[in-house]
Amino acid sequence: MRILSIETSCDETAISVVEARGTLKSPSFKLLSGIVHSQADLHAKWQGVVPTIAKREHAKNLVPVLERALKESGLLENSKVPVRSGKIQNSKLDLKIKKILEREEGLAESFLNFVPNIEIPKIDAVAVTYGPGLEPALWTGINFAKALSAYWKKPVVPVNHMEGHTLSALLPGAVVGVEENIKLKMPVLALLISGGHTELVLIKDWQNYKVVGHTRDDAVGEAFDKVARMLGLPYPGGPQISKMAEGYRGKKTIKLPRPMIHSDDLDFSFSGLKTSVLYKIKELGELSPDLKAELAHEFEEAVVEVLVSKTKKALEKFGVKTLIVGGGVISNKKIRQAFQQLTKENFKDVQLLIPHQSLCGDNATMIGMAGYMRLLSYKSKKTSPQKNFKAKGNLVLK
Ligand code: KG4
Ligand code: ZN
Repeated sequence: MRILSIETSCDETAISVVEARGTLKSPSFKLLSGIVHSQADLHAKWQGVVPTIAKREHAKNLVPVLERALKESGLLENSKVPVRSGKIQNSKLDLKIKKILEREEGLAESFLNFVPNIEIPKIDAVAVTYGPGLEPALWTGINFAKALSAYWKKPVVPVNHMEGHTLSALLPGAVVGVEENIKLKMPVLALLISGGHTELVLIKDWQNYKVVGHTRDDAVGEAFDKVARMLGLPYPGGPQISKMAEGYRGKKTIKLPRPMIHSDDLDFSFSGLKTSVLYKIKELGELSPDLKAELAHEFEEAVVEVLVSKTKKALEKFGVKTLIVGGGVISNKKIRQAFQQLTKENFKDVQLLIPHQSLCGDNATMIGMAGYMRLLSYKSKKTSPQKNFKAKGNLVLK
């Protein structure tokens, strides 16, 4: 099955084409094309993502990104009907597209300038992120998927963004050798660490998710971004902090707390850690480059220790067979290494899956993969995506 997938939950406009085969227990994926257009530079001057700007940029970028994704996957064929412009004609289909895209600035025009001029690509479904994420940005992707679905007569599969981050580790070529036909040993524990989430999810079956631990305040990525800001580093701060910390070999005079590390539950808290960094900066006064690097290093250490300790507790508690760590923050080298070390030393029988660097941040490939798993489970439950859509997530696709 071939899935075209769309992701616009934050500041990346992404479209992929994924070829998927196999069963829920042993799926196999092949990436035909994966385009990610980042808006990070545009948001950097605001030190964070501005939802209205993100929405406007998605509307501008979706059609060019679609064209690239189709071209790279070899699915782009020019239509045999005469070339037409984006001017809306009064056909029923054009008016339907115009209606679906009425809130997306300029998108109906660029859609009608491109889509009618190409052959319907050989795909079976359109998968799209429906949440969680920034609502205005999400809607642009959802409406675009609905317009493509109307034009191409293909079903839309709504996908949860966090489900996507979980599935991202199953693409062959992921860090710890995913073979062509991976056999997934259940239960799976997923540690999802991104800019908006920090959660431990127990998965007994696909579509059967139980959040067993989560952050009570800031997400890990958010803490990285805020601490980076305090140290005068640009957005997004995670990669900047890890770069700064990486080279630090000096003295260790700064000690930051490890919040909730000894609590009985599996929850996290990162807001106190962030505030401790702020107090430390005030206490130290003028920060030399060396002190900044030491602070970044100690902050990263504190995060690693807390993440590893809570995950260890969850692995023991639930007799987990597979550990997946997903989300933007797992591009961090030190955190990747820490989980490899944890399983190697303490959980030899646990299969560790970490996504390839290119799939840690937001992308549409993971949405296509999760879309396939959704389609398979709908099939096994004899239900349709649309029927299930209202059941989960924060948005409704009509
Ligand atoms: O998954 P993601 O791309 O978007 C969300 O769904 O939130 O995650 C983005 C987050 C940002 O907070 C960013 O600073 C963080 O991931 N991040 C990192 C690193 N690379 C990205 N955090 C720590 N170290 C990194 N190398
Ligand atoms: Zn994400």
